Amino acid sequence: MIQLAPSILSADFSRLGEDVSLVEQAGADVIHVDVMDGHFVPNISYGAVVMKSLLGRTKLPFDVHLMIEHPDQYVEDFVTEQTEYITVHQEACTHLHRTLQHIKGLGVKAGVALNPATPLAALDYILEEADLILIMSVNPGFGGQKFIPSALRKVRELKALKKKQGLGFTIEIDGGVSLDNVKTITDAGVELVVAGSSVFKADDVKARVRTFRELF
Ligand code: DX5
Ligand code: ZN
Repeated sequence: MIQLAPSILSADFSRLGEDVSLVEQAGADVIHVDVMDGHFVPNISYGAVVMKSLLGRTKLPFDVHLMIEHPDQYVEDFVTEQTEYITVHQEACTHLHRTLQHIKGLGVKAGVALNPATPLAALDYILEEADLILIMSVNPGFGGQKFIPSALRKVRELKALKKKQGLGFTIEIDGGVSLDNVKTITDAGVELVVAGSSVFKADDVKARVRTFRELF
């Protein structure tokens, strides 16, 4: 089953609760929460306080994408009854194995994200520990960027590895997803699709979520 995770990075923060309700009513599966520290990525977004303001406003699970250095220091802040995944970047973790155990020890599924230039081989000894692998299809830091096509090859190779090794992690993609490329993306093997600007910058947000769902 393929799921849609609208990224609130592109929502209207002056009416965040309403925007999240819209996507929930239209059938979104997960809320993607982009946390940026201005160090790992050249932008600052928001932190756990903003995410927690949505508790009770939506019943949807949270998919937390930490684009931050030293994520171990902050993972506890993002653990709530609605937090399904906490994903850290391979490039930001000196002791990735330890960080994944830390997240799972808090009762949350643990994900690993890879920047566009990072090879899949960086995950060779960690794949069986991960509940989710997030393939970045833009350089992280901003919404509304153009999809980087080599991410598709990475997804296909990851899907093949998953099958060969009989593993259960979810394959997620993030960045530059649109109505035009989403079919190619899901055909390649993506199971959790993040979409920011293509959902929240649409004239009719609910209609856009429904159209995405119809393409799955
Ligand atoms: C980028 C973030 C994305 C972003 C995607 O660094 O991780 O989740 O919100 O935005 P779009 O879908 O507009 O590329
Ligand atoms: Zn993200």
